[in-house]
Amino acid sequence: MTTSAQNDFLTRTSPGTPIGELFRRYWIPALLSEELTEADSPPVRLKLLSERLLAFRDTQGRLGVIDEFCAHRGVSLWFGRNEESGLRCPYHGWKYDVTGQCVEVPSEPEQSGFCSRIKLKSYPCVELGDVIWVYMGPPERQPPLPAFEWTQVAHSRRHVSKRLQECNYLQAMEGGIDSAHVSFLHRHDLRSDSLHAGAGAELTRETDARFEVVETKGGMIIGVRRSAPEGRLYWRITQWVMPFHTMIPPYGDNALNGHAWVPIDDESCMTWCFTHHPTRALSEHELGVMRAGGGIHVKLIPGSFRPVINKDNDYMIDRAAQRAGKTYCGVAGIAMQDAAIQEGMGPIQDRAKENLVSTDNGVIMARIRLRKAAIAAADGRQPDGIDPATHAVRSASIVLPDNVSFIDAAAEALRVREGVAHTSV
Ligand code: FES
Ligand SMILES: [Fe+2]
Repeated sequence: MTTSAQNDFLTRTSPGTPIGELFRRYWIPALLSEELTEADSPPVRLKLLSERLLAFRDTQGRLGVIDEFCAHRGVSLWFGRNEESGLRCPYHGWKYDVTGQCVEVPSEPEQSGFCSRIKLKSYPCVELGDVIWVYMGPPERQPPLPAFEWTQVAHSRRHVSKRLQECNYLQAMEGGIDSAHVSFLHRHDLRSDSLHAGAGAELTRETDARFEVVETKGGMIIGVRRSAPEGRLYWRITQWVMPFHTMIPPYGDNALNGHAWVPIDDESCMTWCFTHHPTRALSEHELGVMRAGGGIHVKLIPGSFRPVINKDNDYMIDRAAQRAGKTYCGVAGIAMQDAAIQEGMGPIQDRAKENLVSTDNGVIMARIRLRKAAIAAADGRQPDGIDPATHAVRSASIVLPDNVSFIDAAAEALRVREGVAHTSV
C-alpha cells in the first residue's frame, strides 16, 4: 500500500525534491530536433521538472538551454531577439550567449565589467536520435550519453513524436509498465490498427495472464504469459529502464515501440513516443500511419503538442462505438485511450486509495526502485540506469514451452544485437 506521504515522494519533481533530484542525474529528452533546426531561429519555451527554461540555437548553430527569464527584471526571453551569436532581451537590450553568460548590458560602460558578473542558469544539451537532451544535475555528475537502441539506429529506421499529457508522470508511466490493461482497454484496436497487426488472439483473452517481474541492473523486465496453442506459453516482455523509459512488447513484424515519461511539472508530463526498427528503414506506409496519429503516436493540434482528442472535448468519447465493440472505452486510438484514462484519474492519482492485485507487481516494483534510487542519489551514490550498457535492451514477444524460465529462454531476445532483428511473434 502506498501512503499519501509516499505518493508525494514519488510524484514531486521540482528542485530539491527526492525524485526531482534523482531525475536530474539523467539525460532528459527535452525537445525534438525539428523544433530547433536553424541558426538564429525563434527560441522555444521548455518546462522540465517544474523549471521554466528556454532553448535556442545561435548564429553559429550552437544549442543553448538557459533560464527563461532575463536577469535584469525578469522578462521572458521567449520575446528575445536571436541574432549575432546570442539572445537579446527586448526590454532593455541585455544579451546572453548559449551558456547563459550575459555578454552585453547597453546601459553600463563596457569597462565596468558589470555584464561579466551576470550569468543565467544554463544546462548542457546534446542532440541524439532526433531529440535534444538536457542534463540538469550537478556538473561533476554528468553521465555518459544515453544508448537506447532507438537513438543509435539510422534516421530512416526511426520515428519520434511527443505529446502533452495533462497528468503527473507517474500514473502515465505506470500505464506503460502495466501490460495487463492491453486485454481490456485496447482489445478492439489490436484488430483494427494496422501497426498492431499480428497481435494474437491470445492477447485479447482476459483471464489467464500471469505476471513475472525480474529486477535488472538498469530497471526491470516484466514478463506476462498467456496460454498459447499446444500447451505452450505466449510471453509478452516489457522493459522498464530507469528512471522513466518503457519498451512495449512488439506485435508480429512491426517495429519496436517505446516511451519516455518526462515530467513538465507535477501535474503534466511529456509523453515521448519512439518507434524504431533495428534492421530496416521504416516504410512509407508505416511513417504515413504514424504521422496521421496511428500506432503509439497521436494527432496533435497544429502548432502545439496537445492532442486533438483531449480532456476539453471529453476525449471525443463515442458511446455508440463503445457499445458496438469498435472501441472498448469509447476513445479512438490506442495512445489516446491510455492518455484519457490516465488523465481521468486527476492531475495526481491518489495512491492511498488503491487496491493493488498481482498484475500490479511491475508498478509496485517500479515505485520501490525509484524510491531506492532517490535515496541512493541523495546519499551521493550512483543511481541505477545511468550506465549506458543498461540501455541496450529490447522488449520481445515470444512463444516458449511451458516448462522453461522465460528470463533464461528469452535472454538473447532481450538485449540489443546489432544487425539482428528483434524477437516478435
Ligand atoms: S528585463 Fe531584460 S533587459 Fe531589462
Ligand atoms: Fe496502453
